[in-house]
Amino acid sequence: MNKRVFSLFFIVLGLMLVVAACGGQATKAPAAAEAPAATEAPVAATEAPVALSGDPIRGGLLYDDWVKVLGVETPAENQVLWATQTTNTRSGKDTWRCKECHGWDYKGVEGAYGGGSHQTGFVGVLQVAGTDANEILAALKTGDHDFSAQMDDQALTDIALFLSDNMLDSAAFIAEKKAVGGDAANGETIYTENCVDCHGPEGLVLNFADETGPEYFGTIAIDNPWEFVHKARFGQPQVADMPALVDLGLTDQEYIDLLAYAQTLPTSSPVAEGGRLYDNWIAATGAADMTENQPLWATQTTNTRTGNDTWRCKECHGWDFKGVDGRYAEGSHATGFVGVLASKDKPAEELLASMKTGDHDFSAYLSDDQLNSIVAFVQQVEDIAPYINDDKTVNGDAVNGKVLYESNCQACHAEDGKAVDFDDGEGVEFVGTVAADNPWEVLSKLQNGQPGAIMTAGRNMDWTTQDLLDILTYIQTLPIE
Ligand code: HEC
Ligand code: HEC
Ligand code: HEC
Ligand code: HEC
Repeated sequence: MNKRVFSLFFIVLGLMLVVAACGGQATKAPAAAEAPAATEAPVAATEAPVALSGDPIRGGLLYDDWVKVLGVETPAENQVLWATQTTNTRSGKDTWRCKECHGWDYKGVEGAYGGGSHQTGFVGVLQVAGTDANEILAALKTGDHDFSAQMDDQALTDIALFLSDNMLDSAAFIAEKKAVGGDAANGETIYTENCVDCHGPEGLVLNFADETGPEYFGTIAIDNPWEFVHKARFGQPQVADMPALVDLGLTDQEYIDLLAYAQTLPTSSPVAEGGRLYDNWIAATGAADMTENQPLWATQTTNTRTGNDTWRCKECHGWDFKGVDGRYAEGSHATGFVGVLASKDKPAEELLASMKTGDHDFSAYLSDDQLNSIVAFVQQVEDIAPYINDDKTVNGDAVNGKVLYESNCQACHAEDGKAVDFDDGEGVEFVGTVAADNPWEVLSKLQNGQPGAIMTAGRNMDWTTQDLLDILTYIQTLPIE
């Protein structure tokens, strides 16, 4: 199964590169011959306007979040026009986003942003579709709506080309947030070909928000179908490998097919959410730092940590779920507390109750939903001893691990695993470092994702435990410094 999906991924990727090499050519080399958007515009007038050339896909990304796309500083003041409305209380960066004033549906006050927390009351931009990009460009450089101090001419041109030729009017396709007349079966095919490798078989692999309100592929399709369609068409700012379906020439109907399928996907993933909470619920929920130690902490003296660490389930019960009977029987994390492995077969109500009782009461910090996720997680923990040896070697196949790493981790962590440094102090901690030091911890993160960060939750891929061990074995070969 995996191998098939991955080779498909490479085929699709290859296809995309070819398409990009042909279709995207106009961006890098503004050749007169290749100016797709502007030449197709209705040129009725006798004096033909100068054809603009640029990249409308980049224009779509800039419309979404140009500060992020260009990697520039957010302007110090709110956008001037922002003060002319009072319904939307955001400030700073959001006030500069085209989408914040004009909407994901491009309809401004006439569309979804006519109400709700994003309500702005500004006009839409859909009416400029099909008009001369030169005029649109001029509107982006005029009066209080002048963005030329923030963006160069090419960026503004790209946006103008997007607005002139690439907006999708969803009026006939989306009603009351539901996809109308979409063919979910065809949508699934599109999903499998283009999205499944990163978002997983059920769209639960990446959580875009924190555990107080997890947001998955399906969540955003249901909550904000217009944003979903825009991002499906143009990609996600700063995520280089996420495809822009516009590049592949899908029909309008096919986006709705994709949306119809995405709206059938689940919006929660209790076990993985529970796993991230078990790892570090403070980071996972974005909660404030703890000022006091967990009350039970004082009943041990071997582990001298304080504050947040004393509240982490894993700090008392271990990455191997065996507490004092496992890895944390000794070493700097030695705690002497019981594990949770022996409790896994207890009924859910009993486990829930144990997390709301006496000094072990977490209900002031975690909602019942979150505690139930933790219970779901605890009920399926397993003994890791057969997988990872006491000398930290892992019983896996590095060759398969490398294949999985390359297609699923490399985009964020780089080939050598050094793109992200997890150490916040003086040292360095890369994928290779932590895999060598603490394979038990890494296995947990590979299964459930990283609390508070956007990272693959392997248990929501179609991966076996052996696949995860293979990845772990491979990343133990990466540089540690
Ligand atoms: C703070 C809110 C705000 C932001 C941010 C904003 N606009 Fe506007 N936009 C307006 C308002 C208000 C108008 C109409 C009056 C005007 O032109 O000043 C307008 C007009 C337009 C028009 C002309 C519409 C027509 O019918 O002629 C276009 C095109 C446009 N905006 C595109 C953009 C793009 C692209 C961005 C992002 C680079 C953007 N806007 C950012 C508020 C905003
Ligand atoms: C190469 C990996 C990759 C592929 C393939 C991919 N995505 Fe994504 N996608 C991401 C990442 C990473 C994020 C999270 C970005 C962030 O918020 O930093 C994301 C986020 C999203 C979001 C939510 C953005 C938000 O801000 O809430 C949507 C919607 C989305 N992707 C749709 C799609 C669709 C539709 C496809 C298939 C056509 C797809 N993605 C394919 C990596 C990918
Ligand atoms: C400061 C250390 C500490 C922390 C932090 C901690 N526990 Fe415990 N846990 C204990 C101790 C001690 C016991 C056994 C005695 C008791 O129940 O009070 C226990 C018992 C348990 C049990 C067994 C209950 C039973 O009835 O069999 C489970 C399950 C459990 N903890 C899960 C968690 C989870 C999940 C978290 C994180 C939300 C967590 N613990 C955080 C110390 C801790
Ligand atoms: C969408 C980007 C993304 C993808 C894909 C991704 N990661 Fe991560 N990973 C991160 C981020 C962000 C962090 C957290 C950095 C931090 O907390 O400082 C992280 C953290 C880690 C950590 C360190 C955990 C710790 O705290 O010690 C490991 C190990 C890791 N990732 C391995 C992997 C592996 C293996 C894969 C592929 C199965 C993968 N990651 C896929 C973004 C990603």
